[in-house]
Amino acid sequence: MNNDIEKVLYTHEQVNHRLDELASELTAKYHDQQPVIVSVMTGALVFTGEMIERLNFKLTLDYVDVSSYADGTQSGKVQLIQDLSTDIKDRPVIIMEDIVDTGHTLKFLKDLLKGRSAKSIEICALLDKPDRREADVEGDYIGFEVPNEFIVGYGLDYSGLYRNLPFVGVLKRSVYEN
Ligand code: IMP
Ligand code: MG
Repeated sequence: MNNDIEKVLYTHEQVNHRLDELASELTAKYHDQQPVIVSVMTGALVFTGEMIERLNFKLTLDYVDVSSYADGTQSGKVQLIQDLSTDIKDRPVIIMEDIVDTGHTLKFLKDLLKGRSAKSIEICALLDKPDRREADVEGDYIGFEVPNEFIVGYGLDYSGLYRNLPFVGVLKRSVYEN
């Protein structure tokens, strides 16, 4: 598995340190608000797990699953596959995502949850790939910026694999250009 990695961008230690900082920021803002954490499956599973154990206050954990696809005419069409089971009306919501890439997924989710009268909605993402942005959305809490390359590890996959790598790395082109 490690042979398929071009380079490590952020080590386990660096990620852990950054997650501590993000958790402090979230704690300062949300410690008395009982937010709903909305984890976007499956990429944000590792990040969410690592984050919530650092959040020492009352919160509700829930998740959604979405898929994005291009249908030829429209790029970045997003579909809801699994909805929340929590009523978010008048609740502060923090969406936890693995990476803000084109931004279509987060734009779709933010609009969807806005329509349910959440008290507030913020986005917390492990990674941001700003070069690729198409939709008008930004993360409120970002772990790291990454270059426009294919990233795996810490929950991010290529073809369902590499999510369990304990670091953020760039996948070798030879893996997906065959
Ligand atoms: P969007 O383009 O911002 O809508 O991102 C859609 C989804 O694509 C993200 O939630 C990730 O799961 C996935 N994704 C985007 N860039 C990468 C990457 O570099 N590696 C792995 N998954 C990615
Ligand atoms: Mg995703």
